[in-house]
Amino acid sequence: MYRTHTCGELRIENVGQEIVLSGWIQAIRNLGGMTFVTLRDRYGLTQIVFDENTPEKLKLKAGELGREFVIRIAGNVIERSSKNPKMPTGEIEIIISELDVLSKSEIPPFTIEDDTDGGDELRMKYRYLDLRRNPVRENLELRHKMGQEIRKYLDGEKFMEIETPYLIKSTPEGARDFVVPSRMNPGEFYALPQSPQTFKQLLMVSGFDRYFQIVKCFRYEDLRADRQPEFTQIDCEMSFVGQEDVLNTFEGLAKYLFKEIKGLSFDGSFPRITYDDAIKYYGSDKPDLRFGMKLVELTEIVQGKGFKVFDSVEYIGGINAEGCAEYSRKQLDELTAFVQKPQVGAKGLVYVKYNQDGSFKSSVDKFYGQEGLKLWAESMNAKPGDLLLVLAGNKKDTLNALNVLRLEIGDRLGLRDKDKFAPCWIVDFPLLEWNEEEKNFFAMHHPFTSPKDEDITLFETNPGEMRANAYDFVINGVEIGGGSIRIFNAELQQKMFTALGISKEETEEKFGFLLDAFKYGAPPHGGIAFGFDRWCSVFGGSESIRDYIAFPKNNAGRDIMINSPSEIGQKQLKELFLSIKK
Ligand code: AMO
Repeated sequence: MYRTHTCGELRIENVGQEIVLSGWIQAIRNLGGMTFVTLRDRYGLTQIVFDENTPEKLKLKAGELGREFVIRIAGNVIERSSKNPKMPTGEIEIIISELDVLSKSEIPPFTIEDDTDGGDELRMKYRYLDLRRNPVRENLELRHKMGQEIRKYLDGEKFMEIETPYLIKSTPEGARDFVVPSRMNPGEFYALPQSPQTFKQLLMVSGFDRYFQIVKCFRYEDLRADRQPEFTQIDCEMSFVGQEDVLNTFEGLAKYLFKEIKGLSFDGSFPRITYDDAIKYYGSDKPDLRFGMKLVELTEIVQGKGFKVFDSVEYIGGINAEGCAEYSRKQLDELTAFVQKPQVGAKGLVYVKYNQDGSFKSSVDKFYGQEGLKLWAESMNAKPGDLLLVLAGNKKDTLNALNVLRLEIGDRLGLRDKDKFAPCWIVDFPLLEWNEEEKNFFAMHHPFTSPKDEDITLFETNPGEMRANAYDFVINGVEIGGGSIRIFNAELQQKMFTALGISKEETEEKFGFLLDAFKYGAPPHGGIAFGFDRWCSVFGGSESIRDYIAFPKNNAGRDIMINSPSEIGQKQLKELFLSIKK
């Protein structure tokens, strides 16, 4: 028998029992003729003792043990003389009576402890060792628990879990596809799904009025902390619903998860913010609502006072960094350098200090004077002790820079507590987005998203102004999910493709099957997909979704443990009718 208990199980009540444990050696300490071995498994740690009464043969064997050996021990549970209140098993230890080495270990490349000395790349190369560490294992436990609860909730709401294929053709999410060559169809390729979007819509046509799937999606896009080339969605679709029904159903799911996983309840509904307001007040369609500090537009009150920088731009806006009037020259210089970073993109930073004595000090004193600056302070709801930070430029980029600055100040002021949660819905997204380079409209969500009924006539006159029945779910400034009410009529769908500049032939080639399906009785439908990895990482309090994926890829999209992607041999290339251009 390998074990009677796990390494996290034994307590003072077990004293006197003969037990068997198996696990990995976390640490070995020799102290005055005694040897202490800490044994680890998924469930915890238990201390094993070799003392003066331990048979010589066993003591000799103990001398050959090393970190990460897998051993089986038998022994007697005793009460510890010096207890360790930090360990759940810290009141007991095991006096060893049998020892079997089940497998030896080389010296691990980094310490397998909560705080490890291993760098990112090394830990990814030996991910199976990293996964032995508590914090990493706990992340996967959280993911497991969330998966179970999601299934429980959705099953309770009559959602059916249905799998959809991975070897398909291009889906409409707008990223690059991963493709797979077909051996049986020379020169032809499958594409891996960027989402099950078209399939879930077909399932609605088939009459499965509530579908969900926890499913892998594949997108060949630039990677960031919250993006992986393969990631997991909680993908959902419902029939005979409007936007309200979808939002209410999934607000229910979110509240259930907050309760079950985080022990948190929310009074009332989650805030709903229109896309326009989100951009106006936060400079982002994924606002972090854990703190206020809304953006305030100042264009009207600051232009025309002789300050050329402001007079020559489209938009001027600022935030009130409350209580920051004491910022030093050095801190302000740092902030200026921060907003000038290419990824933030502002030209410069104008500040106004609202001093405790009611006077103002600013980098633009000479254009605005005390009275002028007072106006700024009033528009920004400032009080003595506050610091106003103002950016100017074209509207889109400046709003974006203000968003980044707001988050930075939020961080500096400790307002982005990872144990605080501020969920919200963003609604009324634009239907289309103009791409200046390609001189073309793109679907802001995807081409199957329906326009608001009252906006349909704008297809002919002003498509850029159309709003969509589309929504995002955001927690703490992270886009957790997005969805829409779909077009379910072939004619409207064709209009949409036309607005997107997709020809009839291309439409037919790419999405003909869906338009055909709509000819056979399609119910009104809509849905949403949540980024499962992102939701786990927000609940777990981490910036990186990698921490919640058992075997993630690095920032270059590589799995450095298995060394993938890698070249394939000539034989395989030939079978697939491929040749490599060097
Ligand atoms: P969307 O493209 O908004 O919608 O994706 C839904 C959610 O998936 C997550 N996500 C990602 N997570 C990790 N890595 C990525 N590369 C990545 N890309 C997206 C985000 C996002 O909110 N078919 C539609 C949904 C629908 O309309 O029902 C779709 O895929 O959290």
